[in-house]
Amino acid sequence: MSKTPPRDRSRFQADTRLVHAGRDPSAQQGFVNTPIYRGSTVLFPTYDDIKNRRGRYQYGTSGTPTMDALSDAWSEIAGAAGTVLTPSGLSALTIALMAAVSAGDHLLVTDSAYRPTRIFCDGVLSRYGVEVEYYDPLVGTDIAALMRENTRAVLVEAPGSQTFEMQDVPAIAEAMHARGGAVIMDNTWATPLLFPPHERGVDIAVEAGTKYLSGGSDLLIGLVSATERWYPAVKRTYEHFAPCAGPEDIFLGLRGLRTMGLRLREHGQRGIAMAEWLQGRPEVARVLHPALPSDPGHSIWKRDFKGASGLFGVILNPVSEDGLAAMLDGLELFGMGFSWGGFESLVIPFDPTVYRTATRWQAEGPALRFHIGLEDLDDLKADLEAGFARMAAVA
Ligand SMILES: Cc1ncc(COP(=O)(O)O)c(C=O)c1O
Repeated sequence: MSKTPPRDRSRFQADTRLVHAGRDPSAQQGFVNTPIYRGSTVLFPTYDDIKNRRGRYQYGTSGTPTMDALSDAWSEIAGAAGTVLTPSGLSALTIALMAAVSAGDHLLVTDSAYRPTRIFCDGVLSRYGVEVEYYDPLVGTDIAALMRENTRAVLVEAPGSQTFEMQDVPAIAEAMHARGGAVIMDNTWATPLLFPPHERGVDIAVEAGTKYLSGGSDLLIGLVSATERWYPAVKRTYEHFAPCAGPEDIFLGLRGLRTMGLRLREHGQRGIAMAEWLQGRPEVARVLHPALPSDPGHSIWKRDFKGASGLFGVILNPVSEDGLAAMLDGLELFGMGFSWGGFESLVIPFDPTVYRTATRWQAEGPALRFHIGLEDLDDLKADLEAGFARMAAVA
């Protein structure tokens, strides 16, 4: 017989919880990992049970032991009352938003939000009668001045997607809570390991598990965790749409969870090392990374965050498009692709001027977003150095 795992893990550190949360070998013939339950139909033993809908499991969409393993583990790690799993980070954001606002409500959305979140707000929420207003991510306590009688929720993202502004989440939460509304956060960059959302005033936190939970660029999954007050609304909204994550993807998520702390530390340290190196390059005008002391968001990051992940931005000095293309096209180690959080290094060009509405994005030259993977740092630097040389040759 296998040992019963420690049920009260409150005395353990995050790394220990990551290893033990959401699995019970003593309940699965001693096997270390929770098995994959696939299924739509759940059989009820008696007429009385089916009539009274008795039993934890009743239908494939509303829960399986595999789903529970990850959602319970995530709630434990995030310090949440409950978590629902969805098939992507974007679908998790849509569930979080729909749980918090209704027709006639006013929703404040940071101008630095992940762009597809904006597209959902403008394309779906607006169509269903929600007033969507974008605000300056650096607003801080002044957010109170933007709140109206019908403001029911504020969406924050820190650091901002692509542009990496730090938001004062506790200050924004205080202002929103004074009006009884919900603070929703896209916490994908930090994960609950580096920014414990519910301790910092967030009511509904979203994680694109596609990134660091997976760690392998091989999985799409979303997680929505919420406080006691907001979890029932999140769960109800989830049940209305039933956007179930697939059992194999949940299994991969559980596998990723065990090593997430370790990987994040590596991504974070490497990211900072590369950001510092890039800051010293003549081709670079500015680095957008809240862990750098020169970053305008550094003091908030230091106050509220426990570390950094591996994603940051760089503003280059003015350079021709041909020069930029020559740099990027010849890279051997940095891939060009949108999703991030895997073991590999990535770079993409970005231009926030095309979607920002509440603030004006001003930059010295073209902008690049880097994700630093687990390759050797000297190899990565050599790849970029060769890229800068190609850039100079074209210029
Ligand atoms: C900050 C952020 N939030 C959410 C998402 C959406 O995640 P998914 O790709 O799983 O829909 C992404 C994806 O790039 C992201 O960068």
